[in-house]
Amino acid sequence: MESPKSVCSQEELVSEIRAMAPWHHDIALTPDLSTGRVFSETGRLLPPENQGVSLISPREKFLRRLQELYPAGMSGKSFLDCACNAGGYCFWAREQDVARAVGFDVRKHWIDQAKFVLQHRQVAPVDNIEFHEMDLYDLPQRNWEPFDLVYFSGIFYHLPDPITGLKIAADLTRDVLVLNTSMDNSGVETLGLKLSIEGTEPLMSGVHELAWLPNNPETLYAILRWMGFREMVLAADQTNPTSLRRRVEIYAAREPGRLDGIKTDLKT
Ligand SMILES: C[S@@+](CC[C@H](N)C(=O)[O-])C[C@H]1O[C@@H](n2cnc3c(N)ncnc32)[C@H](O)[C@@H]1O
Repeated sequence: MESPKSVCSQEELVSEIRAMAPWHHDIALTPDLSTGRVFSETGRLLPPENQGVSLISPREKFLRRLQELYPAGMSGKSFLDCACNAGGYCFWAREQDVARAVGFDVRKHWIDQAKFVLQHRQVAPVDNIEFHEMDLYDLPQRNWEPFDLVYFSGIFYHLPDPITGLKIAADLTRDVLVLNTSMDNSGVETLGLKLSIEGTEPLMSGVHELAWLPNNPETLYAILRWMGFREMVLAADQTNPTSLRRRVEIYAAREPGRLDGIKTDLKT
């Protein structure tokens, strides 16, 4: 379904973008305007500079990953983004010609932004993209067909029962699931999940208070293997020496050999 095309002037768009702040995703609307560049020349800001929310601009990196996964393009493929925030990954997947892109997030703030971009983005097609304000745990009630590629980024460590949450996404994955998560890096050697109680007010947090941080990629491999993934690649691993957190991105595929094209970007 075509979305209504923007009839706003550049000034009106800028004013709307400011009114909808803070933004986490820098997404281009026109050749001269993106949601992030209204606030910063690079489309990037640290949380203290942006109402406690990091402003990120990951389009290029994401497109390189899609190219590695689907060198022949994504025509006819479907994409699901769990906890989609302002929907950046859905819009960029659509640039690669996916037949269907669906994003959902539990917070109205982010889904309002995603729908705003849907309405005003002029630099790429926005048909066949949909957004829903929804908790991950309500996803099974939708009875959707499985998606080729499922994105599970920045949500695992915000869930009271992350194994059930990830299983919900895994059961909707036909081909590849991307798991990007923060991890505990305090040096515990026993594989497991560490308790992390979080506030529910911050826009980037979970909504259930109870949450868990995995402490080793091996913990995540064991969980993903149990969910039926037969090949896994640690595509990125970043540790900040002054922080007790570590961030990993794991690609998990149903078929062995499927991830041969993924390049790793290991920084420890
Ligand atoms: C750290 S941000 C990650 C955003 C985005 N996935 C990304 O990687 O850029 C966490 C997101 O998860 C959403 N979220 C938290 N708990 C959720 C839940 N139970 N169901 C759906 N979305 C949730 C938040 O509203 C927020 O947008």
